[in-house]
Amino acid sequence: MSDAVDFTKRGAIGVITVNSPPVNALSAAVRDGLGEAFEKGQADPEIKAMVLLGGGRTFIAGADIREFGQPPKGRPFHDVLKGMEASSKIIVAAIHGTALGGGLETALCCHYRFAVPNSMVGLPEVKLGLLPGAGGTQRLPRLVGVPKALDLITSGDFVPAPQALELGIVDEVGDDLLEGAVAFAEKLVADGAPLRKVRDLPCDAEDGVFEAYRKANARKFRGFLAPWKCIDCIEAAATLPFDDGMARERELFGDCVVSPESAAQRHVFFAEREVAKIPDVPKDTAQKEIKQVAMIGAGTMGGGIAMNFANAGIPVLMVEVAQENLDRGMAIIERNYQNTVNKGRLSQDKMDQRMALFSTTTDFADIGDADLVIEAVFEKMELKKEIFAKLDAHAKPGAVLASNTSTLSIDEIASATKRPESVIGMHFFSPANVMRLLEVVRGGKSSPETIATAMGIGRKVGKISVLVGNCFGFVGNRMLHGYTGEGTFLLESGALPQQVDGAIYNFGLAMGPFAMGDMAGLDVGWLVRKARAADRPSNEEYGGTIPDRICELGRFGQKTTGGYYDYKEGDRTPIPNGEVQAIIEQVSKEKNIARTDYDDEEIIKRALYPLVNIGAQILDEGMAMRPSDIDIIYINGYGFPAHKGGPMHWADAIGLDKVLADIKRFHAENGERWRPAPLLEKLVAEGKSFADLQAG
Ligand code: 3HC
Ligand code: NAI
Repeated sequence: MSDAVDFTKRGAIGVITVNSPPVNALSAAVRDGLGEAFEKGQADPEIKAMVLLGGGRTFIAGADIREFGQPPKGRPFHDVLKGMEASSKIIVAAIHGTALGGGLETALCCHYRFAVPNSMVGLPEVKLGLLPGAGGTQRLPRLVGVPKALDLITSGDFVPAPQALELGIVDEVGDDLLEGAVAFAEKLVADGAPLRKVRDLPCDAEDGVFEAYRKANARKFRGFLAPWKCIDCIEAAATLPFDDGMARERELFGDCVVSPESAAQRHVFFAEREVAKIPDVPKDTAQKEIKQVAMIGAGTMGGGIAMNFANAGIPVLMVEVAQENLDRGMAIIERNYQNTVNKGRLSQDKMDQRMALFSTTTDFADIGDADLVIEAVFEKMELKKEIFAKLDAHAKPGAVLASNTSTLSIDEIASATKRPESVIGMHFFSPANVMRLLEVVRGGKSSPETIATAMGIGRKVGKISVLVGNCFGFVGNRMLHGYTGEGTFLLESGALPQQVDGAIYNFGLAMGPFAMGDMAGLDVGWLVRKARAADRPSNEEYGGTIPDRICELGRFGQKTTGGYYDYKEGDRTPIPNGEVQAIIEQVSKEKNIARTDYDDEEIIKRALYPLVNIGAQILDEGMAMRPSDIDIIYINGYGFPAHKGGPMHWADAIGLDKVLADIKRFHAENGERWRPAPLLEKLVAEGKSFADLQAG
């Protein structure tokens, strides 16, 4: 029998265990083993029922994603499941860890399901751009009803065992996996329980439920393929005989598997796991345990960052210049939690526990117990250096000293201490208690332990930590600069804000650069441009003329009820403004630029190819470890759509030769700012993609 599955006997119960670490994915070996094991149990007259469980840390976590797109081998999954469901002996699934995707589908072909309390079940295929393709869309609605199945299958959310019991997905929850499941199976046999097949249950839906669901979720599912196909499948479950529904599911699964959306989302799945791997900081590098954090600065970022730690149960000492700043910062933190409580997403008890984890001081001498200190004061080098000198004086040896700077050099900040090996950047994104991205900025002297600790604690508090190098803007903002900058050049040369924003929205981002600017406030950029005016190289093209003029009118964005757009009181819908259009056209005239009538495709290229070109530059400089890290940064920090896989995967999907040809065209038309990155040229010359770079 296949090594991946073994068969043992417990009295009259056959115990079938999948042993395919790490997550018992349904590889060919597992499918073959399952088929053989069930046949063995079926043929053995001593066996009255069978229990299926996963060895190691989990039940089956789904199909083997790495097999998609490979030539088929081993037993077809559908045949294995069919054999199980048709078994004349009861099969009980015994679930621990996670029963996901094809794993839950396997369990749904068992006649009963037993789960331990901390296990979870779910059909997360949609997150990979797929749909549950082994009967999940046909069987789950038969157990939980159509409305709940729609929510579970289109979200891919995991359901904890106690809730799965309430929903009827599992039949029994008990503490001891093997003993509990065997006892459950024995009882079923003793009671003469029926062979319960989910396929035989009815599946009804109220009139109009599918149309209403499509309409209600149109914005959320925009650009994705799989959620729509999931709905189609569940509709088939409710309207067709079981076997026809299965055929429909199979057909639509086929559409999803070959779709570019799924290729992109599968890329993201692996990229999210790859991001934690650092070649010169091995997995077993010692990490400092973070039992106490000190947060320097209780402003916008400090407050949000601190909340992440309190949410994870880690005490935080807030340090400020004056008591009134502490009071103001703490009041905002309290208000944020209170809002969550008011929305019913947090209990008052939990809020009280979290608030109790905060303490405050205006004296740096109090930070001596902190294992991690994060500085988030004003963005001024002199101030940061002054603070790090104080941290050096008061922090305990070995404490990690992090800065949340968004632009300043970590090495220069570290030079203010006698322990640069402990200094690192931890660049959170605003609002820091919400945004998942954390750029961990590696200084020239940051030690492996400091890097491992910063990456690890980020993950522990729910962030996706990406290691980046120490350069201006690091990775995300350096690329963003190219994107927003090109947006204003597009205005000068022919587009209007609503056209650019519309094209970007349709591409899949939550909003375009101008709506984003209005939301963030245009005054910040204006101040920065004025401050830099004297140092700007004379040959550098200046794209700030239009936003400067808009700011000169006192239009700073939503906070002033107008910026690139107008806004009605209490409404964030952008309304195009004639005066802004006049400014744009006037600037084109003054700069002697003929206005071009761009179509959406050209707008997308011009607005988003800077991400690719600068991304290539960043890779060449070693400021990002791999192309997929850049994709993760853009998806989690800037709302780049997951169904496009991030800017680098997107460029690969288009073909780097085509991307480069356009960049060269823009270079010829618009000059230096479009100079192709040497790495991009090299890859094209070698017929390679960014993905090859990673594989190599
Ligand atoms: N296929 C192949 N490899 C998988 C896998 C899968 N389904 N699920 C996880 N892995 C790999 C990961 O890539 C990782 O590999 P690495 O160590 O080389 O980086 C390793 O297993 C461990 O995974 P995690 O680091 O994610 O471990 P966690 O303990 O944090 O999480 C998990 C475990 C919750 C199971 C998580 O891995 C997960 O969500 N997996 C995907 C589940 C899924 O989407 N299943 C549906 C698959 S599609 C399907 O079933 C189609 C069917 O309907 C026909
Ligand atoms: P902020 O102005 O809201 O907060 C700064 C806080 O630091 C103030 O409360 C101030 O009283 C305090 N502070 C000043 N000097 C101090 C000192 N000597 N000791 C203790 N506290 C002191 O600023 P914000 O927006 O929170 O930014 C902080 C840092 O985070 C900056 O480096 C910024 O570049 C960075 N950042 C900001 C982002 C944003 O979107 N606002 C995003 C990512 C990083």
